[in-house]
Amino acid sequence: KSLKPYNTFSISVDANYFAEILSEQDLLDVLKSDLMKQQSLLVLGGGSNVLFTKDFEGLVMKISIPGISSAVKGDEIVVTAGAGVVWNDLVKYCVQNGFAGIENLSLIPGTVGASPIQNIGAYGVELKDVFESCVAYEIATSEKRVFNFKDCRFGYRDSVFKNELKGQYIITSVSFKLSKSAKINSQYGAIQEELSNKGIATPTIKDISDVVSEIRVAKLPDPSTIGNAGSFFKNPVITKDEFEIVKSLHPNVVHYPAPDNKVKLAAGWLIEQCGFKGIVVGQTGTWKNQALVLVNHGSATGEEVYSFSEQIINNVDAKFGVKLEREVNIL
Ligand code: FAD
Ligand code: EPU
Repeated sequence: KSLKPYNTFSISVDANYFAEILSEQDLLDVLKSDLMKQQSLLVLGGGSNVLFTKDFEGLVMKISIPGISSAVKGDEIVVTAGAGVVWNDLVKYCVQNGFAGIENLSLIPGTVGASPIQNIGAYGVELKDVFESCVAYEIATSEKRVFNFKDCRFGYRDSVFKNELKGQYIITSVSFKLSKSAKINSQYGAIQEELSNKGIATPTIKDISDVVSEIRVAKLPDPSTIGNAGSFFKNPVITKDEFEIVKSLHPNVVHYPAPDNKVKLAAGWLIEQCGFKGIVVGQTGTWKNQALVLVNHGSATGEEVYSFSEQIINNVDAKFGVKLEREVNIL
């Protein structure tokens, strides 16, 4: 089965087996079936955070479990969505119903089920800020387990599902703690700028959602026309001492405070300073408006994109002494 329509990088690779999961029962059936005798299993949502470097020798399980429901608890709303719900459809549902909390995460591609995996984040909000719990099944035993906030050990683009429990659980639904009285988060510079351009002094959650969507459309390539998986690398987090060295050599380095007295650098800036912004290398390259995004100009192979990313890591390391880490899952 061709996986080209199932990854936003639009890389042409095949999988030996493919199963689409529409319910928890479907999942249990497949977990018990002979398909599980395949050597490898890949759980896939929207394929917007993966880079295939070769054919997948095994079973791809595409999670398409639908459904959104909500329960009012005073001023709080708990919204539960199936893992296959398109993330932005959930955002739209919440904005339309006046449920505040995820409007800053408008237009992030992918599914609800993948949202806790890397603790998606954008424009001043992270999934962990609204996460209530998620339901997941252990692949080895088919046992159902509820993960609460603490269990997930969220960090910047990180969770327990990328570490100790990597590849062990399949998320089937996620619950979010939202609010009926909007706590508008418009701290992010670009949001403030856009709001003031539009003359909006007291924004609604709909305004925030619209403004974030506009900023994103202007800055990021649309996967339906140019293959990509968003930021290819994480923004590196370094110690204060390491930062002082970088800053002494590069006084303009773009940086932000990070937890534990650390400093986060803008990887896009580091890459741009190496002369890589908007460059085209064969069928791959970086996006003209955002150097942190690697793109497929049409017929790139995953290996080609991967080796270009290696070149970027080496150049940034040589110039700044900082090691970039990939955010995208390499397969
Ligand atoms: P996939 O790519 O299908 O899978 C990602 C990982 O999660 C894989 O390891 C997969 O095995 C695992 N997984 C998926 N579903 C499940 C499940 N149900 N149970 C267990 N494991 C699962 N991310 C941000 O955080 N912020 C952004 O602003 C952002 N902007 C982006 C912009 C663009 C244009 C693109 C293309 C991507 C962007 N991303 C961003 C990355 C991407 O949208 C997120 O990582 C998203 O959560 C991936 O969802 P997905 O369903 O496509 O996951
Ligand atoms: N910058 C440059 N050149 C570039 C790109 C960025 O100099 O080519 C500098 C600019 O100074 C800019 C700063 O970097 O002010 C930050 O850029 P931007 O606001 O675009 O955000 P980012 O740090 O590059 C992160 C996330 C995005 C998320 C945005 C908005 C990571 C790895 N990426 O990007 O997430 O949408 O912030 O909050 O943390 C993703 O994960 O796929 C993703 C797109």
